[in-house]
Amino acid sequence: MLSGKRVLLGVTGGIAAYKTAFLVRLLVKEGCEVKVVMTQSATEFVTPLTLATLSKNPVSFDFIDSGDGSLSWNNHVELGKWADLMLIAPATANTLSKMANGLCDNLLLATYLSCTAPTFVAPAMDLDMYAHVTTRESLSKLESQGVHIIPVGSGFLASGLEGEGRMSEPEEIVSAIKRQVRSLQKLANKRVLISAGPTRESIDPVRFLSNRSTGTMGYELAREAYLQGADVTLVSGPVHPIELPDAIHRIEIESAKEMSEVLHDQFPNCDLFISTAAVADFTPMERSSEKIKKSVFQAEDWNLRLVATQDILASLSSAKKDQIVVGFALESSNAISNAMSKLKSKNLDAIALNTLEDPGAGFGTKTNQIRLLFADGSDVLLPLNTKREIARLMWSELIDRLC
Ligand code: CTP
Repeated sequence: MLSGKRVLLGVTGGIAAYKTAFLVRLLVKEGCEVKVVMTQSATEFVTPLTLATLSKNPVSFDFIDSGDGSLSWNNHVELGKWADLMLIAPATANTLSKMANGLCDNLLLATYLSCTAPTFVAPAMDLDMYAHVTTRESLSKLESQGVHIIPVGSGFLASGLEGEGRMSEPEEIVSAIKRQVRSLQKLANKRVLISAGPTRESIDPVRFLSNRSTGTMGYELAREAYLQGADVTLVSGPVHPIELPDAIHRIEIESAKEMSEVLHDQFPNCDLFISTAAVADFTPMERSSEKIKKSVFQAEDWNLRLVATQDILASLSSAKKDQIVVGFALESSNAISNAMSKLKSKNLDAIALNTLEDPGAGFGTKTNQIRLLFADGSDVLLPLNTKREIARLMWSELIDRLC
């Protein structure tokens, strides 16, 4: 899978740098061509000679390279353009923070900024540094900028402390990259359409009917699809601001009717549609153009008359042509059988079941638990996890089984 890939390995100054010798050997064994860029402090943990010998390529670590006696300007742009993928391992808190904020005070950072290939980082640091709010912020900023984070391991750290922060083992780093490359190949240039968030059904200019959806699950699915190389359009109802990569095309709507119009417009151009939106099932029959006075509500016979909205997912799916359509089902009882009947009646390829009975799942929580049911009768449980991790697992299952 990695054979022939040009891997640019960035090494920064942490004790885990000693593992990069094994990492380079593994990458070379996979058939990759490897070039290494180091920070000055990384050269104190592992010698450029070791990495140059193992990679069979010269190692760069300074803007000005006077190795052969003549001063030359190292071409970070050329290095960045050369790479099919860039991997920064170990990535220290310092480098992560500089990357997240566009700082460029060494060759490695200049190369990173010049590199347009998919980039992976394998963080490595002590547990309190890893847990520090600024490190969390750097990682989440980098992730939203499209950088793939290879999760840290847990165990004994060089400081003598024990906990999270150690760099993933070289074998795990290579497997994570392989997994991602495989997904990137499957979703690359695929047009993914996702609906998210609640809709608002206006009663008058001030009041509306809505629901508790925060949109988080749909936004995480959009982010993950983008990270896997898809061309993503997200149609979203009103939600609190959620940071997403700029390259995701976002269309904001308010009502179920607006959502239906935009989705019907976008659907013919997509390869895969995921309907996470909590579309209102009903809307006021009439919308007052003026704010309704309290006295009107106080009248004994005041009623709000509602009409059913269109089932957008069923309508789109009935017209699908070679497209993959995935729905969500939110159930409070008879969850599996209700979800199965939605899967069939809405002509879906898969449905993601959320059960309100599961603690930590559904609306307004940071976590979720999902059972994915497929049209071929198979199913898989994605156990309680953060919505970001559930999005990653969900894409991995959808890609394996449907793409
Ligand atoms: N959906 C839709 N349009 C609607 C209602 C729902 O497109 N008017 C979509 C949702 O985005 C979701 C799926 O249909 O992917 C199932 O939504 P859910 O609320 O679980 O079920 P409903 O079809 O609304 O049925 P019920 O309320 O009876 O459970």
